[in-house]
Amino acid sequence: MIKVELGNTGIEKEQIMEYKDTIDKIHNDLHSRAEDESDFVGWLNLPTNYDRIEFSKIKKAAQKIQKESDILIVIGIGGSYLGARAVIEALTSSFSSIQSDEKRKYPQIVYAGNNLSPNYISELMEAIEGRDFSINVISKSGTTTEPAIAFRIFREILENKYGIDEARSRIYVTTDKEKGALRVLSDMEGYERFVVPDNVGGRYSVLTAVGLLPIAVAGIDIDKLMEGARIAQEKYNDSNLKYNECYQYAVSRNILYSQKDKGIELLVNYEPKMHYFTEWWKQLFGESEGKEEKGIFPAGVDYTTDLHSMGQYVQQGVRTLMETVINIKEPKFNININSDDDNLDGLNYLVGKSLDYVNKKAMEGTLEAHVTGDVPNTIITMDKLDEENIGQLIYFFELACAISGNILGVNPFNQPGVEEYKRNMFKLLEKPGY
Ligand code: PA5
Repeated sequence: MIKVELGNTGIEKEQIMEYKDTIDKIHNDLHSRAEDESDFVGWLNLPTNYDRIEFSKIKKAAQKIQKESDILIVIGIGGSYLGARAVIEALTSSFSSIQSDEKRKYPQIVYAGNNLSPNYISELMEAIEGRDFSINVISKSGTTTEPAIAFRIFREILENKYGIDEARSRIYVTTDKEKGALRVLSDMEGYERFVVPDNVGGRYSVLTAVGLLPIAVAGIDIDKLMEGARIAQEKYNDSNLKYNECYQYAVSRNILYSQKDKGIELLVNYEPKMHYFTEWWKQLFGESEGKEEKGIFPAGVDYTTDLHSMGQYVQQGVRTLMETVINIKEPKFNININSDDDNLDGLNYLVGKSLDYVNKKAMEGTLEAHVTGDVPNTIITMDKLDEENIGQLIYFFELACAISGNILGVNPFNQPGVEEYKRNMFKLLEKPGY
């Protein structure tokens, strides 16, 4: 269950309600486009309208990978890996890489194809030596350079290790149903293939095979994840701004941006397991809104860690910041602070208190300080860190992002600017045709 509090944004309900008609229009427009195969709004009804056959195929493939492999290499970049990583890091142990295989129970998920660093690739090659592994290569276009290079490298290692035939059975491809080099290659080689639906763009694709296969391999319950998203779909289906907290969040951040000069939004967590959720969120909002010289710059901080690095700026730097705080009500584990006879660290005043209690007080104190320092705060509270809540949060932000981009007057489903660096890079690399 997710709750949004706007009490610390400094925005009055009446100001938000001025957007009532605009929101109603955007809501109806999005819903009218949701089933159009040639549009990019397929994510809107995905939690209730997903391909059940593909979903069972994902579960079966995940079980096979779990049985055969210690490691799954997820090869993808941007929307083709961030969603999976966000969910996996939020819901599995922060120390899974140093857990024994027995303790972890499920394959270790590692990522490649999200950078061009030879150090990264070499170190991963070394780390998988002597370990059983499979590959899930994910690319909607099937032509993105970073994952294509990584796939070429790790496919060769897989083929040398297991032979061509077994290697084929350890490669899982997630790509477009018709187009792209990966689609052609997977047909030729007979790799098991999963589809990125036409009407779901990369950064909105975590609840398709793009995210679901790696997430399921990591031992996370994808039925519950989809159920969480379904709950959010139902909850935020009301076109009336007065009753829709997701739309209120979208409106309030736009008011802060356009009327109060708050051009940067920091997504704040007090739980390091949410670090990659923030990375996913940054891509979602950054690629959706940052165009036509407009858009709130999405950034992220992990508190209390970053209070000791970024806290000074947030409190007293240029007043262009707003914060959106993810508050997780119940921690999965808690730890009590015990008494110490010498009390040399002076911490005995906390005896009997839990670490979560201290974390929450840090959050309350920071919130008050930042709001007083003219950093408006939105609080999004989720009950706990589990599949259902994460599913809700994913849907909440996808919908808020689409609404927000429309309020801003940009198309939240394209990313024309991403091509610029590619063109220059290809020219410098002397790629034919550039
Ligand atoms: O959101 C997007 O569309 C992009 O970030 C893509 O996900 C990213 O560029 C990777 O593209 P592809 O899946 O085609 O390899």
